[in-house]
Amino acid sequence: MASGKKARPTEHAAGRRSDQLEPGGARRPDATAPSGAARAAALELRHVSAGYGETVVLEDVSLALTRGESISVIGRNGVGKTTLLATVMGHTTLHAGEILLGGARLDGVPIYRRARRGLGLVPQEREIFPSLSVRENLAVAARPGYWTSERVLELFPNLAARLGNMGDQLSGGEQQMLSIARALLTNPEVLLMDEPTEGLAPVLVESLAAVLLRLRSESALSIVLVEQNSRVALAFSPRAIVLDKGRIVYDGESAALAGDPERLAQLVGLAE
Ligand SMILES: Nc1ncnc2c1ncn2[C@@H]1O[C@H](COP(=O)(O)OP(=O)(O)OP(=O)(O)O)[C@@H](O)[C@H]1O
Ligand SMILES: [Mg+2]
Repeated sequence: MASGKKARPTEHAAGRRSDQLEPGGARRPDATAPSGAARAAALELRHVSAGYGETVVLEDVSLALTRGESISVIGRNGVGKTTLLATVMGHTTLHAGEILLGGARLDGVPIYRRARRGLGLVPQEREIFPSLSVRENLAVAARPGYWTSERVLELFPNLAARLGNMGDQLSGGEQQMLSIARALLTNPEVLLMDEPTEGLAPVLVESLAAVLLRLRSESALSIVLVEQNSRVALAFSPRAIVLDKGRIVYDGESAALAGDPERLAQLVGLAE
């Protein structure tokens, strides 16, 4: 499989400095970005209001992620977490504000071009192709870069044992791993994940949470992790955002929320 120019795993593991490696972990031979662009946020939302048709769901959302930074997004059901990711992907109506990827305007860019600009989405519904094998599901997504089949299968060894299974012959956990593996293979700069642990048995939640943590700490990707499971979310990244009724009501340290169950319960309901 085409792998483009490979970075050595050791460079990747140690290479969290954005001046050395691209956010996706791949070394770009033609890295000629001006210093201004290099300093630009990986992803930025400026006063974004968005929704479905006339309906406004997100209101005045501002958020910036530096390169290589990850955040967790938590909040009750229906507060707009999926809508936030959908808005970045271009699947909603943008009523106001701007969205930038690596300093370049993203709003106005057609949906089909956004993935190519460096966005990877792991949707809440997983959206595995049921009549394609695991191998084929991976192959259709692959684009040159750090993440190759070998690397994603090393991250998810369970998938390596299921390469010949069809998409509809996988457990919920395996489908979730495939969905994440597929998004990684597109070699995005920013990875958006929508409730990857939803519906998984507790033991699978734990093992997936461990993989996500590894992904965050070992790669230079910027990740937005939407999670209902506050415990998983707050353990995932140092910074967390809480959404309530389409607005950001908390943007700060995860540890501060994890250590204050009362406040957490106030913001997102009962802690899990
Ligand atoms: N396609 C749509 N058309 C119209 N309204 C929608 C659509 N999708 C979601 N909504 C509404 O937007 C609001 C936010 O929904 P969203 O799916 O973003 O919430 P969420 O925080 O992801 O919830 P959950 O935790 O259940 O996944 C809800 O009121 C929902 O009913
Ligand atoms: Mg959702």
